[in-house]
Amino acid sequence: MADDPFFFCSKDSFLIKAPKKSPLALRMVVLVFAMVCGVYICSICLKQIGIRTNPGFLNVEVIERPCPGPNIEPWEIPYVHYPKPITYSRVECKCNPVRYFAILSMQRSGSGWFETLLNNHTNISSNGEIFSVKVRRSNVSTITETLDKIYNLDWLSSASKNECAAAVGLKWMLNQGVMQHHEEIVEYFKTRGVSAIFLFRRNLLRRMVSILANSYDREVKPLNGTHKSHVHSPRRDTS
Ligand SMILES: *[C@@H]1O[C@H](CO)[C@@H](O)[C@H](O)[C@H]1NC(C)=O
Ligand SMILES: *[C@@H]1O[C@H](CO)[C@@H](O)[C@H](O)[C@H]1NC(C)=O
Ligand SMILES: *[C@@H]1O[C@H](CO)[C@@H](O)[C@H](O)[C@H]1NC(C)=O
Ligand SMILES: *[C@@H]1O[C@H](CO)[C@@H](O)[C@H](O)[C@H]1NC(C)=O
Repeated sequence: MADDPFFFCSKDSFLIKAPKKSPLALRMVVLVFAMVCGVYICSICLKQIGIRTNPGFLNVEVIERPCPGPNIEPWEIPYVHYPKPITYSRVECKCNPVRYFAILSMQRSGSGWFETLLNNHTNISSNGEIFSVKVRRSNVSTITETLDKIYNLDWLSSASKNECAAAVGLKWMLNQGVMQHHEEIVEYFKTRGVSAIFLFRRNLLRRMVSILANSYDREVKPLNGTHKSHVHSPRRDTS
């Protein structure tokens, strides 16, 4: 008799255990299923977030990168640039190619007049004798810094055009540091793709006359106000 209840009990416990085991397994299955579902949903969510943020990056890239190549000869490509000024944005003209130039000349050679003609164009900006200021030409690094600023369209002068400038440059007299640092300057022009425009007066006599006239003006005018360069006089010679 003592055996019997024990047996019954053990049988009972076995019987109870058996149905108990399957809910546990089921629970495990449900738990695993829920986990898999959770992971799946999470991955889809992440993917959607990824898709939602990616177009932003893509758009930026699409806007930033492909400026359609301008219709130019292959040899011209090194001379065409797309500067990104720090101080403002070139907005709708950021894909307008910009050419860099430097007018290398000597005083009283008609470079002022030439520059006036250039600046008459709405898209050309020639910034004048930037290097007449001694500090800017004191050494190669200050020269490079100044040139970088000009060619990045960050140099703001009266000649600066809007963000649609298509050519930018300066007037540079040979005695304003060009001859002292000519090797570095040539190297800079080569690597940055700057076109050098040499402007010399063919008629040296006229240049001498102009120098004399200018120095006469300079000596006379200071008695009554500021010196005005002898450029805008009505009887300007035209050779
Ligand atoms: C540019 O040149 C043209 C033709 O010579 C002249 O009519 C015009 O007034 C000039 N514009 C400026 C801003 O100097
Ligand atoms: C270049 O000149 C500037 C200004 O005169 C000075 O501050 C700078 O230290 C100089 N740099 C070198 C490399 O000589
Ligand atoms: C010249 O400038 C005008 C606006 O001032 C702009 O619409 C035009 O695209 C520019 N042209 C070039 C060749 O950059
Ligand atoms: C000095 O300049 C003023 C105008 O700036 C002018 O009216 C005056 O006639 C000038 N005087 C002489 C002596 O040139």
